Amino acid sequence: MISLEDFRLFLHVLASTVWVGGQIVLAGLLPTVRSLGEDAPRKIARAYNRIAWPAFALIVFTGLWNLFAIPISAIPHPEFELKMLFVMLSAAGALVHQFASGNKAMLAVGGATSSIFAALALLWGIALV
Ligand code: HEM
Repeated sequence: MISLEDFRLFLHVLASTVWVGGQIVLAGLLPTVRSLGEDAPRKIARAYNRIAWPAFALIVFTGLWNLFAIPISAIPHPEFELKMLFVMLSAAGALVHQFASGNKAMLAVGGATSSIFAALALLWGIALV
């Protein structure tokens, strides 16, 4: 049977796949999106943000739920703290990317930072269990 614990982890991992996987898919689609017009990447990025940030909010919500649901002694150190650092750097990179207003360096550095640290957070998340 599916337990509440399974459901809690399912929601956490589902939201993580949207945040991490969405960035990979978007990067892969970018050359095609660019061919659709000058404004197309910006429109797609905005549409993507409407999905990605709610997914990030769900990650944080279910992450806190995870924390309250497991015994404090089950949290490994410093792996958990490292994972939190990766999560924050991923969000910070996404914000730099989002507010780059056309600055190519900020777009590239912010996007790469967000994706690399999102992938690391995923790996650390798996290593936590
Ligand atoms: C980009 C952000 C994040 C990603 C990609 C991510 C990913 C994951 C993954 C893949 C797991 C393992 C699930 C499993 O194998 O069963 C996990 C577990 C966990 N995550 Fe996250 N996570 C993120 C953010 C957070 C945040 C912000 C928190 C806390 C506020 C958090 C707290 C936890 C805890 C405590 C567990 C262990 C749950 C358990 O053992 O029952 N995560 N995470």
